[in-house]
Amino acid sequence: MLRSSTETEALGEALGRGLRAGDVVLLYGELGAGKTTFARGLARGAGFRGRVASPTFALAHAYRGRRLTVHHLDLYRLEGRVDAELGLEEILADPRGIAVVEWPGPARRWPARRVEVRLYHARAGRRAVVRDRRRTA
Ligand SMILES: Nc1ncnc2c1ncn2[C@@H]1O[C@H](COP(=O)(O)OP(=O)(O)OP(=O)(O)O)[C@@H](O)[C@H]1O
Ligand SMILES: [Mg+2]
Repeated sequence: MLRSSTETEALGEALGRGLRAGDVVLLYGELGAGKTTFARGLARGAGFRGRVASPTFALAHAYRGRRLTVHHLDLYRLEGRVDAELGLEEILADPRGIAVVEWPGPARRWPARRVEVRLYHARAGRRAVVRDRRRTA
């Protein structure tokens, strides 16, 4: 149970610390479930020190840390469509990049080796279910 946004961020940070180049993290959850908050912690854990804001309108932000670049995507506006302008192929091919994706959509073909995070509204905050498919896929 995540009782505050600080705890959501801390869980993201813990995951972020263990990420390696090439990793993909898909964030599922309805509006306001805490996806951006989680991504902010994840970017911190991956070594980024700057500001992390929702990329709802930009679609993608790149946070360059010393070790990794965190590509933070929010595909809500695309409604599952593929958008060439997004440059998704390049993002996924970035040799020092990791991708964290809000609203990944049902149809898109993400790599099978990925981490799935599901965030749910709960009575006292949020609930998270993390499924690491980097090895089992
Ligand atoms: N565990 C928590 N308990 C209570 N509030 C939380 C928790 N985690 C995050 N929040 C708060 O929920 C609100 C929405 O968070 P956030 O913007 O991260 O959600 P989101 O899933 O990215 O939303 P969107 O679907 O609009 O992209 C923020 O005010 C955030 O601080
Ligand atoms: Mg968001």
